[in-house]
Amino acid sequence: MADAQIRILDAQATGEHLPFGELVATLRRAFAEGCVVPVRHHHTIANDGEPDATLLLMPAWHETHQSGRYLGIKIVTVFPGNTARNLPGLTSTYMLYDGRTGAQLALLDGNTITSRRTVAASALAADYLARKDARRLLVVGAGRVASLIPDAYRAVRPIEHIDIWDIDAANAARLVQNLERQGLKASVATDIEAAVRAADIISAATLATTPLIKGEWLRPGTHVDLIGGFTPAMREANDEAVQRSSVYIDTREALHEAGDLVQPIRAGLFSTDLVRATLDELCRSDVPARTSDSEITLYKAVGTALADLAAATMVYEASSIPG
Ligand SMILES: NC(=O)c1ccc[n+]([C@@H]2O[C@H](COP(=O)([O-])OP(=O)(O)OC[C@H]3O[C@@H](n4cnc5c(N)ncnc54)[C@H](O)[C@@H]3O)[C@@H](O)[C@H]2O)c1
Repeated sequence: MADAQIRILDAQATGEHLPFGELVATLRRAFAEGCVVPVRHHHTIANDGEPDATLLLMPAWHETHQSGRYLGIKIVTVFPGNTARNLPGLTSTYMLYDGRTGAQLALLDGNTITSRRTVAASALAADYLARKDARRLLVVGAGRVASLIPDAYRAVRPIEHIDIWDIDAANAARLVQNLERQGLKASVATDIEAAVRAADIISAATLATTPLIKGEWLRPGTHVDLIGGFTPAMREANDEAVQRSSVYIDTREALHEAGDLVQPIRAGLFSTDLVRATLDELCRSDVPARTSDSEITLYKAVGTALADLAAATMVYEASSIPG
């Protein structure tokens, strides 16, 4: 019997099949339905004369009762020594299989899957949590993920103005130029306090280890979205931001992995039972979302293989439709 052909989609082809409006809708269904997501595997790999490398495996699969069943795995290599070689430190590949037969279907660009599903999941959370009339967006960071935030949020809210703050002002200026080329109103925020005070939505995707967003600057009705910190040592917002907010998370892992929550919990300033809901609960409408125009909401995400599988499936199915 002939082997089935495997479809290969590079970064551009993967991205073309993930427009944000549809991706947000796909993730809404996927979070509501759920799938099997085992604990991610984390392997340390020695590399002579260089910092240790890491192999990260993130599998997920649909359950037997689900229609259109798929199985997928994201394979990520992190080689910190690559900085000295002027090569990217992180490489990410997504493999998609038929969930019933295990037959291989497609190999997709993992970086594109990750960055697009991440901002789309944040936009989905904001669709439940941000004020309906939120028009002014502050993006904190100007890297790979942050640069996609404006486009994703425009799929769910009537964004009219985008402020960009980055630790490196030249990065912020580059992103502002790109947004202006697309006909959007954008400006570099030089004073982060003033930009936070003016924002309806603040979305951060940085590698910060000390808080950038201070709770005392948040005006009533603001929605805060924290994408960056993924270890207990990383912080994007301070304790007061968490204490003043109704707090939502993507998955329960955020309570163990994200410094923005782990640190105030350890200090006795916040408690896990104050978390209002996870993203799947919001998508199933099991819990109330924003309850008033003056409430401050905060969403903290660490990412989940459920969203990777949903995005990869969307790319595969869209690329199967002729022309
Ligand atoms: N929650 C998720 O699902 C998810 C998914 C993907 C990436 N991420 C995280 O988002 C963050 C950004 O990822 P990326 O791929 O865009 O990285 P990137 O390297 O492209 O961008 C990093 C950004 O952080 C800024 N930065 C670096 N050090 C900083 C510091 N000390 N203080 C403030 N800003 C700093 C940089 O100027 C840049 O704007 C990372 O922490 C990454 O792990 C989260």
